[in-house]
Amino acid sequence: MAAPKDKPISLRTERAKRSGFKAAEGARAGFPATRLRRNRRSDWTRRLVRENTLSTDDLIWPLFLIDGDKKRTPIAAMPGVERLSIDLAVKAAEEAATLGIPAIALFPYTEASLRDETASEAVNPTNLVCRAVRAIKREVPDIGIICDVALDPYTSHGHDGVLVDGEVDNDRTIEVLVAQALVQAEAGCDILAPSDMMDGRIGAIRAALEEHGFPKALILAYAAKYASSFYGPFRDAVGSGAKLKGDKLGYQMDPANGAEALREVALDIAEGADMVMVKPGLAYLDILWRVKDAFHVPTFVYQTSGEYSMMVAAAERGWLDRDRVMMESLMACKRAGADAVFTYFAPDAARKLKG
Ligand code: PBG
Repeated sequence: MAAPKDKPISLRTERAKRSGFKAAEGARAGFPATRLRRNRRSDWTRRLVRENTLSTDDLIWPLFLIDGDKKRTPIAAMPGVERLSIDLAVKAAEEAATLGIPAIALFPYTEASLRDETASEAVNPTNLVCRAVRAIKREVPDIGIICDVALDPYTSHGHDGVLVDGEVDNDRTIEVLVAQALVQAEAGCDILAPSDMMDGRIGAIRAALEEHGFPKALILAYAAKYASSFYGPFRDAVGSGAKLKGDKLGYQMDPANGAEALREVALDIAEGADMVMVKPGLAYLDILWRVKDAFHVPTFVYQTSGEYSMMVAAAERGWLDRDRVMMESLMACKRAGADAVFTYFAPDAARKLKG
């Protein structure tokens, strides 16, 4: 509370006197009546006044799949993250469930021989992702499974859609995305997560799900997904990076735009999304805040491969404390309004939270 100018406050501490502190001036600034450090002094006060919390319920663990048996292959730019064959992915799902992580997200590394111009492997009901969903559902029935609906792991050119005259064709791509979503739903996927940024795909997928007997399937729309350079390590992980010709600026959002994200989210909700995503995370927390503030719908954020790699690489050099930046970055996502965070740190963060 600021004191009136003409009424000097007589209460002056010894310490304030010594420092030449003038009560009236300080009171006008709120000090010393207000000392924000009082609440920060002890662990117990910090816990009492804490505004946000992070729990294992907030974590979604992205897993990379590869064909084979008992096979794990490292991803150079993502130390600690590996592509797993289905049997090992089942083990990872069990671990996630034990740690209390509510859901995992599956991303396939597709053999080069199975990639083509139109992503035909994406709609194969026995493709790697569909087989993994079936196996995990059978062995770990209580964990949520999220599948990416996008064509980039399946195209020979690395784009998220079908090219017509050298350009990703929106409506032709939607036809394939719908078929992809249906084989994933059929396999038992709980949440379909279109990450492709075609216009109108949420409505088309929702209509197809209703029509084909999947009214309970959830849709998590990557609604505000930016054409970001933070996806680099992911593209190596799914093997699309080296193949990608050009960039994704023609369908993913311009990093310079904020208001446009709100239009994207409004459309996806109207078309039938149950949850929306903002991606990437740390560099886009303003967008996350605006989306949550405007729509009050379940809003997730993707702490992308590049964010993970930056933190882990710096920690490997001894420049950052891995555990601390991990927890701080996840808490920042919560503070900005995230209901859950896709993070490659999920199992480590869960273990940390369990103490
Ligand atoms: C595919 C997809 C991408 C990511 C998730 N789904 C890459 C891209 O759009 O190029 C990025 C995830 C990450 O960087 O961790 N559409």
